[in-house]
Amino acid sequence: MENINQVSMPRIGDQAPPFKAVTTQGDINFPQDYTGDWVILFSHPADFTPVCTSEFMTFASMEEKFNQANCKLVGLSVDGLYSHIAWLRTIKEKIEYKGMKNVEVNFPLIEDITMEVAKKYGMIQPGESSTKAVRAVFFIDPKGIIRATIYYPLSLGRNFEELYRVLIALQTADAFSVATPADWQPGDDVIVPPAGSCGTAKDRMEGKEDMKCYDWFFCTKPIDKEKVLSTILKKP
Ligand code: BEZ
Repeated sequence: MENINQVSMPRIGDQAPPFKAVTTQGDINFPQDYTGDWVILFSHPADFTPVCTSEFMTFASMEEKFNQANCKLVGLSVDGLYSHIAWLRTIKEKIEYKGMKNVEVNFPLIEDITMEVAKKYGMIQPGESSTKAVRAVFFIDPKGIIRATIYYPLSLGRNFEELYRVLIALQTADAFSVATPADWQPGDDVIVPPAGSCGTAKDRMEGKEDMKCYDWFFCTKPIDKEKVLSTILKKP
């Protein structure tokens, strides 16, 4: 017998499940249309709700910053297209919040009234709500691989600076073959080599004076903030 509480959730390292959808910016073929770019696919519970409105205003205001890091944004809720359009128009024309006003949402917002996409991505979590998507966030790399996932409940608005930090940390790990420690921000030391591939402390220290080892399994090295950002961010 089918267990309605069982949800399939794409995992880190999986290929992003493909789908075609109608959005506020036209039809999309996902993730194929985003090949070569990073993309953050995120869901929200419902249009015309306060937490979601604060999130959309914040994310839309930061869109250029994400685009500079070669990352596109794609939203989704189980509302229909006309609801999406009316809500985004209300945000632009009427809402002033925390200094943000006239906010235009230029990234696509997927309509998913059948919940087909939301179910594919484990965004419907019946213990929280069987009629609304939770606040899911998928970080998908230029090859269409899911690299990080975060899920929040309905009542909790996301921290978009943290989402940006995750994106930059993933790209830094790829570009420099390093890992990033707790609370890492560009300019902080990184962990080298990535956990699990250690030689002896002596091997690892040889000729690497700038490395700092706390023990044989835990070494860091500095990377300049400028070097990180100039590697990752598009040139102006
Ligand atoms: C909100 O975005 O405010 C919200 C949406 C669904 C349930 C609870 C809060």
